[in-house]
Amino acid sequence: MDITVCIGSSCHLKGSRAVVERLEQLILDGGWKQKVALSGSFCMGQCQTGVSVRVDGAYHSLTPETTEQFFLQTILPRLLSGTSL
Ligand code: FES
Repeated sequence: MDITVCIGSSCHLKGSRAVVERLEQLILDGGWKQKVALSGSFCMGQCQTGVSVRVDGAYHSLTPETTEQFFLQTILPRLLSGTSL
């Protein structure tokens, strides 16, 4: 699974660094390091929303506060079922 977090200036101001750190920790804690490629990207053209995160090609809007919930509800079920698009 590919997860890309926008580190462009608008998303940086909204906390992209904290989003990356939380995702890294959740991936590490769950032992998913081999299954997830986490990377950063410059502006994704979605600045009006929150911190932009692309998961297997689909865009999502996160904040540092919603990152864990997003991971548990959206990412984890896909990892567990092995259905990464
Ligand atoms: S800076 Fe993140 S989408 Fe533009």
